[in-house]
Amino acid sequence: MSSLLVLLNPSANRVYAGQVAAISAAELAALTGTDVRQVTVAGVPYLELDASADAPALARCSGRLAVFRREGELLRPVAVPDTDLFDDDLVTIPKYPGKTNEQFTRLMMNLTLAAAERQGPLTVLDPLCGRGTTLLTAWTLGHNAAGVDADGKALHTLADYLRSYLRRKRISHRVSMDPVRREGRSLGRKLDASATVNGTELSLTAYPGDARTSADLFGRKTFDAIVTDAPYGVVHGSRRAGGTQSGGAAQGQAPRARSAAALLADALPIWARQLRSGGAIGIAWNTYSLPRSELAELARNAGLTPVQSEPYLAVAHRVDSAIHRDLLVARKP
Ligand SMILES: C[S@@+](CC[C@H](N)C(=O)[O-])C[C@H]1O[C@@H](n2cnc3c(N)ncnc32)[C@H](O)[C@@H]1O
Repeated sequence: MSSLLVLLNPSANRVYAGQVAAISAAELAALTGTDVRQVTVAGVPYLELDASADAPALARCSGRLAVFRREGELLRPVAVPDTDLFDDDLVTIPKYPGKTNEQFTRLMMNLTLAAAERQGPLTVLDPLCGRGTTLLTAWTLGHNAAGVDADGKALHTLADYLRSYLRRKRISHRVSMDPVRREGRSLGRKLDASATVNGTELSLTAYPGDARTSADLFGRKTFDAIVTDAPYGVVHGSRRAGGTQSGGAAQGQAPRARSAAALLADALPIWARQLRSGGAIGIAWNTYSLPRSELAELARNAGLTPVQSEPYLAVAHRVDSAIHRDLLVARKP
């Protein structure tokens, strides 16, 4: 019986420091709902899965370089449909300290949406959106995006980038930064963007502000998924500019008075209320600041159900000596 072999992109090793096979296997298992095995053929490692695996799910996989059908001793290349709405440069061109790695962001999105029981088109919120890696990943996968970040300048930079990128690619779009006022007080400028790609209309809204005020900023609006990379409680002063290998920490713009763990404790009940029923939240965080069991408890206290099945427990990995990163996914009943 034939099977499919997935060859992983060598760059994934830089993201996961040698732990890529296990993490990508977990992602593929969640995306396809099938068993995924690590195998070696002629000295080259692959992930092997059932030949019936859904092709669009393979296309979404964050670490995939190529797919082959294994027929006895032969590997036959398999064309995977290109389901992305944008070239990958939409997400990869911006380079800045504290940027969440693009491949890991796609994996977070995939695992979170695989856990959600929501049909598209979906809207994904990142309440700690920085310069928008999650938001741009949502667009790439065909979903609407919403964000909040304490660093108002990050949203201006994202707006400038979107304008120039969409103009250069001749994609029909609108991008504006409009003042936001609450109770007579200026809160800065909100980013509103839309684009039409291959007949799909996409929207992106991002507010400057504290992640804990996300529900006030968006009012009654609710979301199908929340995908976010929390501050790691580490300042990467020496990280080289343009480095993208770690999730990075907030770089001084955000309030630092409280720890990353306290931020999550405060914010989770608010974010949980912003999720639609059947929606899911995926939070990447530094387990040195908060053990997984405690974050899961915070999620449960907020009325969410942490997903504890095998693939969702196999994503933790070392980023550097100060960061051990994990992803908690929880569903809203
Ligand atoms: C790990 S970074 C996320 C980076 C983002 N995914 C990107 O690639 O640009 C965490 C982000 O949280 C923001 N932040 C930290 N504390 C915050 C708070 N209380 N409210 C809103 N944003 C906050 C920081 O400004 C930073 O952009």
